[in-house]
Formats: sequence, structure tokens, C-alpha cells
Amino acid sequence: MNEQATAARRSAALHTPSGLGSEATRDIGAALNTLLADFFALYLKTKNFHWHVSGPHFRDYHLLLDEQADQIFATTDPIAERVRKLGGTTLRSIGHVGRLQRVLDNDADYVTPLDMLAELREDNARLADRMRETHGVCDERGDVATASLLEVWIDEAERRAWFLFEATRAGEAPGR
Ligand SMILES: [Fe+2]
Repeated sequence: MNEQATAARRSAALHTPSGLGSEATRDIGAALNTLLADFFALYLKTKNFHWHVSGPHFRDYHLLLDEQADQIFATTDPIAERVRKLGGTTLRSIGHVGRLQRVLDNDADYVTPLDMLAELREDNARLADRMRETHGVCDERGDVATASLLEVWIDEAERRAWFLFEATRAGEAPGR
């Protein structure tokens, strides 16, 4: 058996039958894996800010970011398993996340609390945009199940962005 045939046989062991065509499962799987990398990157950034936030609103922000990180993390397993259900393979390492993520890391020594919230608000809004794009791919390919999952995750990302937006307005004077 040549090398190519051996490799094909190995990867065939990970294939899962799906009623959607191979092009559909390839395109949707690729879009979901990139989203998954974004979710992991945003999870760690949210935890980073949860750990390093400081100042008079510490308790509120610390707890808000923990709640949001939990929600983001809870989404990762269903995304990865959706890719497997479609017959694809998913992320294997932090290095793999790093190669695919579009969410930018923030390794700064100090970030002000309001900058943290504003950055996460923007990241969550962008994530919702990207999920809407992926929803479009699913619609084109007739994958209603992935589309339906995405609808819930888009709503959750928009809720996180809403909370972050309102929290950044805390310092404004009433009536402004
Ligand atoms: Fe914690």
C-alpha cells in the first residue's frame, strides 16, 4: 500500500456519515473550526481580564467576566462535536487555535477596566458577525441544525456585548 492510500485509510477511520454533501461538510466544518479557535481565544482573553481587572468596580467586573467566560467555554464542545457529526476533524491543540484565531490576544501588562470591557464588547460583536457569516454558509448548504445552534450562540454573544456596553456606561452622568 502506498503512502497516500495509508493516509487515506487512517483519516477514513474518523469519517462520520452525513446526509449533507462532502462540499457542504467541508465548508461548514472549516468555518466552524475557525469559529472554535475564536471561542477559545475569547475565552482565554475573558479569563485574562477576569484575573487581572482592578479598581472600584472589581467585584462586579470580576464576576461578570467569569460568567461570560463560562458561557463562552460551554459553547466550545458543541461546536467541536458539530464538526465531528458532519464528518470532519476539529482542533487538536493550543497551537492549532493560534493558527486559526481571528480574535486578537491582549498580553499587555496593564489594561484599564473600561478598556477591557470595551475590547471584549467589540470582540463579542465581531464574533456575532462571524457567526452570522457562518449561518449564511449553512443556509446555502441546507444545514439547518448548525444554523439553529448558531442562532442561539449569536444571541448569547449579543447579550454579552450588551452587558459589556451597559457596564462601560456606568461612569456617565444620569440623563446624558
Ligand atoms: Fe475565577
